[in-house]
Amino acid sequence: MSSKILIIHGPNLNMLGKREPGVYGRLSLQEINERLRDHAEERKLELRTFQSNSEGAIIDAIHEAGAWADGIVINAGAYTHTSIAIRDAITAVALPTVEVHLSNVHAREAFRHKSLIAPVCLGVVAGFGWRSYLLGLEALVE
Ligand code: DQA
Repeated sequence: MSSKILIIHGPNLNMLGKREPGVYGRLSLQEINERLRDHAEERKLELRTFQSNSEGAIIDAIHEAGAWADGIVINAGAYTHTSIAIRDAITAVALPTVEVHLSNVHAREAFRHKSLIAPVCLGVVAGFGWRSYLLGLEALVE
């Protein structure tokens, strides 16, 4: 049976490629998703990707994943540092979840050092650009 994984991209990640490329890289979100899909195909994983700028839509996607997915890889963007509601959604569906970030949040402003989501995740991958998603996916599946 192949694993079914939901990749969630949070707020402002639709701007990747244009947004602070020195911090987040030059790949667009579409290019990142294509690379992840190629990898998933090789690994025989079923991957769905989802992006939203709104907290409620991300929570809905997590709830829906409870009905079909085996695990979640989430880059919650700035909601990582603020959203008790996303944390509660992850706890509610009880799916294994990995938190990822393109940038090394610990080398940046102090307000990015705190994650409200990390305590309910299996682990966190940060600082490896788009490959953070790849590493998070591999860690989740393994
Ligand atoms: C981010 C880091 C967050 O602090 C920031 O708000 C983002 C992107 C990252 O992938 O490095 O939007 O999650």
